[in-house]
Amino acid sequence: MSERINIGNNAFILPEPQTILGTMLDGKANFMALAWITRLNYEPCMMGIAVNPRNASHRAIRETGQFSVNVPDVDMVAATDYVGLASGKRTDKSSLFDVHFGKLESAPLIRTCPLSMEFTLADSLDLPTNTLFIGELVAAWTEERYLTDGCVDIVKARPFTLTMPDNRYWAVGEQVGRAWHDGKALHTGKSGK
Ligand SMILES: Cc1cc2nc3c(=O)[nH]c(=O)nc-3n(C[C@H](O)[C@H](O)[C@H](O)COP(=O)(O)O)c2cc1C
Repeated sequence: MSERINIGNNAFILPEPQTILGTMLDGKANFMALAWITRLNYEPCMMGIAVNPRNASHRAIRETGQFSVNVPDVDMVAATDYVGLASGKRTDKSSLFDVHFGKLESAPLIRTCPLSMEFTLADSLDLPTNTLFIGELVAAWTEERYLTDGCVDIVKARPFTLTMPDNRYWAVGEQVGRAWHDGKALHTGKSGK
């Protein structure tokens, strides 16, 4: 049997979804790379994002109470990385993307992203180095060409992921199974619930 190795007390989920956070900073659209995001609640749809207070986006969310999360495709790797390197404190990132607005006035949406979601701030929790902002989804935007049977299709959307701490971006590979389905083969008797 192979030996299990303890690699320390600092680890990351493998992989992390790579997104772009959109906010309105002093009246202008601002964007930053955001990988620390997760769905938190089913009904209503709520998601949590972890933002470092040093980022200008942090102040923008506090001031406006709104933000967007945009899922870029593999053609947007460099632009996504760039908004993770440059800060809105010193750099005007407002004209980098083709921006549109949905229902909220302070949640700029990126038109070239296969999926864009706009949120109102529902709650927040200040942790030692990051703030967990909890957003409630107001609307999610896509295009017909990204849909299969009404769902955003990962093959058509071509998102990419991030691994840390080696800091590499990855395209998504092939489908390996079906959720809430493949496990049924292991049921010996009645439902395990
Ligand atoms: C790949 C990548 C992922 C990142 N993910 C996050 C994140 O989840 N949370 C965060 O606070 N900063 C994250 N950052 C750092 C911010 O994107 C970066 O500090 C950015 O310049 C902040 O821009 P702003 O000051 O205009 O808000 C990430 C950076 C990169 C390159």
